[in-house]
Amino acid sequence: MNLPPAVVLLLTLVSVCAAHVISLPFSPARRPPWQHKSAGKRLGPSRPIAGRLQRPIQAFSKRHKQPIRDLRLNAKTRDIKLANYYDSLYYTTIAIGTPEQEFNVTFDTRSAITRVPSIYCRNGQKFRRNPKKYNNESSSTYKSNGKPLEISYGSEQVSGYCSQDNLVIAGATVHNQTFGESIPEPSVFGSTMNGGVLGLGLSDTAAGEYPSVVDNMMSQGLLPAPIFSFYLNRYGSDDPDSVLTLGGTNPQYYSEEFTFINLSRPDRWQFKVDKVQLSNIYRIAFPYGCYAVVDTSTPLIAGPIDVVESLNKVLGAKPLEDDPMLYTLDHSQLDSLPNLEFMVNGHKLSLTSKDYVIKIPGDKTGDRYYSGIMGTKRKIGKKPVWSLGLSFMRTYYTQFDKGNHRIGFAKASSFANKYLQYYFDFHGA
Ligand SMILES: *[C@@H]1O[C@H](CO)[C@@H](O)[C@H](O)[C@H]1NC(C)=O
Ligand SMILES: *[C@@H]1O[C@H](CO)[C@@H](O)[C@H](O)[C@H]1NC(C)=O
Ligand SMILES: *[C@@H]1O[C@H](CO)[C@@H](O)[C@H](O)[C@H]1NC(C)=O
Ligand SMILES: *[C@@H]1O[C@H](CO)[C@@H](O)[C@H](O)[C@H]1NC(C)=O
Repeated sequence: MNLPPAVVLLLTLVSVCAAHVISLPFSPARRPPWQHKSAGKRLGPSRPIAGRLQRPIQAFSKRHKQPIRDLRLNAKTRDIKLANYYDSLYYTTIAIGTPEQEFNVTFDTRSAITRVPSIYCRNGQKFRRNPKKYNNESSSTYKSNGKPLEISYGSEQVSGYCSQDNLVIAGATVHNQTFGESIPEPSVFGSTMNGGVLGLGLSDTAAGEYPSVVDNMMSQGLLPAPIFSFYLNRYGSDDPDSVLTLGGTNPQYYSEEFTFINLSRPDRWQFKVDKVQLSNIYRIAFPYGCYAVVDTSTPLIAGPIDVVESLNKVLGAKPLEDDPMLYTLDHSQLDSLPNLEFMVNGHKLSLTSKDYVIKIPGDKTGDRYYSGIMGTKRKIGKKPVWSLGLSFMRTYYTQFDKGNHRIGFAKASSFANKYLQYYFDFHGA
C-alpha cells in the first residue's frame, strides 16, 4: 500500500494494539445471519434459478440490444452488515469451501481479487491447524489453479497463489470463484493486508485477470446490477450499522440525489479532479491533471504532499516534529475551520471539519486533534492522486457502478455531529 508511514503505522497499531484497549463492539452470531435468510435458500446454492436463465437472457438481450440487468428481475440487492474497527477499517464475514470456512474480510477497491490467508507457508509446508487460514484439503469443492498471486501496493507486497472454490457472501453462493491464498511475508506480519480481503476493484478479464466476486455474482444471476454501495458509520455513535449493498443502493442510507462522476478509465475506480479548495478562502487548481480514487484501504484522505502542506498551513495545522506527515490542530481553531471541497466536473464534494478532523481522546492532557488530510507520494502515471478514504466515504454514501463506468455520491443520511475517533495513541508504541 502506498500510504504515508503514519497511516500504515496507524493500521498496524490498530490491529496489533487495540485489542487490549477496548473490546470489539461487534459480535456476529455464531452462524452468519445470511445462512438463515429465506431469500438465500430460494435462489439456493445447488439450483440457482437465475444462473440457469443466464444464457437465454444473454441471447435475448443481444437480440434486443437491452442491458442484461433490466431482465434480471429475479435477482435482488443484498445488504451485508459490516463491523467498524475504530473508524480505521470495516470488515465482514464471508465463507469459502465445502464445508464452509469463515473469514473476516476488509475491502479493497483497488484490486479485483479476493484473498484469504493460506494454511500453507512459503516453503510449501503447512501451518498447524488454524481455523482462520484456508485449507484446500478440507474443502470438497476446491479446484486447484496454482497460478501465482502477486499484488503490489507501493512498498507493500501481497503474494501467494490462486485457487478456486465456492464462496458464500450475503446469502448467496458464488460458484467457482477464483481467489488468492495469501502467504504472509515475515516483513509485513501484522499488517491488515495479511488478513482476508474482498477484492472490489475493476477486473479486466480480457487482460487475463480473474472475474471478481461481483462479476461472478452478475454472471451467475445473483445480482440485479453490477453495482455495490457503502454506508459507513462512525465508531461509537448512534448511527445504524455499516452496510455494504451488493447489486444497487439502499435508499435508507442517503438523503439526496446522487451526483455521478464518470471514471477516467474503465479498469480503476478513478476520476479527474479539477480543484481542491477550503471553502472560499483557498483554492488549488490542477491544470496539468489530477486524479482521485475512492479507496477503502485508506483510512483518511491522502493527497499530493505539497498541496497537503499548503492546505494544512491554511488550516493552521502544524506538522508533528517526529512525523511531518501528520498535522496537529489546536483545540481553539476547530470551530472556525472551513470545508474541504473537491471540485469535479462542475460538482462540489464537500467535507466539513467534523468529517476531516480526527480526534484522539486524551487522558490528562485532554483530547487531541489532527488534520485528516495527509501527504502521499502516490501517483497515477505522472499525475498526482487523491485517495478519498474511509473518512470521505463516511460523509458520502458511495455507489460503485461498473455497468455505467461511474461512481455516484450522495450525502449519507443521519449523522452524529461528532469528530472521528481513534482509540489508541500512535506515539505510544
Ligand atoms: C470475525 O470477527 C469477529 C469479531 O467481530 C470474531 O468474533 C470472529 O471470531 C471472527 N471470525 C473469524 C473467522 O475470524
Ligand atoms: C492443496 O494445495 C497445495 C498447495 O498448492 C497442493 O500441493 C495440494 O495438492 C492441494 N491439495 C489438493 C487436495 O488438491
Ligand atoms: C463450476 O464448475 C463446474 C465444474 O468445472 C461446472 O460443472 C459448473 O457448471 C460451474 N458452475 C458455474 C456456476 O459456473
Ligand atoms: C458520462 O458518460 C456517459 C456515458 O458514456 C455520457 O453519456 C455522459 O455524457 C458522460 N458525462 C460527462 C459529464 O462526461
